Amino acid sequence: MLLHSGFGFLIVENIRKNSKTRFIGRQIHYFTELGSTQELAIYMAENNSEAVNGTAILAEQQDKGRGRLKSRWISPQGGIWLSIIVKPPMPASKSPLLSFTAALAVCETIDQLTSLESKVKWPNDILINHKKVCGILLDVATKGDRVEYAVIGIGINANVDIEKILPYLDDSKHSDVTSLKNELSGKSVKRSAFLKLLFERFELCYDRLQKEDGSPIIVNKIKDRLEYNSVIIEQGNKTIEGAIIGLGVDGSLLIKQNDGSSVEVSFGEIRTRDR
Ligand code: BTN
Repeated sequence: MLLHSGFGFLIVENIRKNSKTRFIGRQIHYFTELGSTQELAIYMAENNSEAVNGTAILAEQQDKGRGRLKSRWISPQGGIWLSIIVKPPMPASKSPLLSFTAALAVCETIDQLTSLESKVKWPNDILINHKKVCGILLDVATKGDRVEYAVIGIGINANVDIEKILPYLDDSKHSDVTSLKNELSGKSVKRSAFLKLLFERFELCYDRLQKEDGSPIIVNKIKDRLEYNSVIIEQGNKTIEGAIIGLGVDGSLLIKQNDGSSVEVSFGEIRTRDR
């Protein structure tokens, strides 16, 4: 029963066979239940030489899903809980662009398969109608100043029943999350079609990133989708406030502060809904 309502081994095999990718999702490790696809992917990349570039780990449910900043990621049935191992020949300084690449691929997949408009909340949340529908988690291992491998975790509340997530969130956050199904007035998305296209879009964006002029293209595409014009960013107990004036080629946010000075922000959490 669980397999019938989920992806199922055969469906996963079909995605693998039918998607037009060269390396992303050529190997898929599929689980009906798992602690965390991210932790398994990191373990595989560290210990298993068979974790080739593009290997995907996919789970129907996770009971130890991990979000950014050590938060818990609630991962019930109906979502797409995915981690992709990549081994890009790139400097570590460019690695934040890998999560932009994944964010762009998710947005383009949503655009192509649904009528919904997706936006990016820097650094890499995907929002629909101002609510979070997808989070991206990037873990990077470096050797010297190069990337050895990266694991890109993608958590999409595809057909998730939001009521299953809300009890785990502060009341103040209840209006901040959604699922694709929720935004499509209860209509489910076909997750296998979504995943197949996501692999294809991700590979295209990833290939582009490797090209010499690729980073600005990816960065500009993300910039066009940014949700906010003016922001308050929290960095521990420090806050930075101002207008977004650009995105650096390393993925950092360029802010013009209220005193007229400019500052480059490479980490932090946006706290504001001003657009
Ligand atoms: C965030 O905090 O916004 C990032 C959430 C990332 C969740 C995904 S689900 C698949 C992968 N496995 C995990 O344990 N986390 C990531």
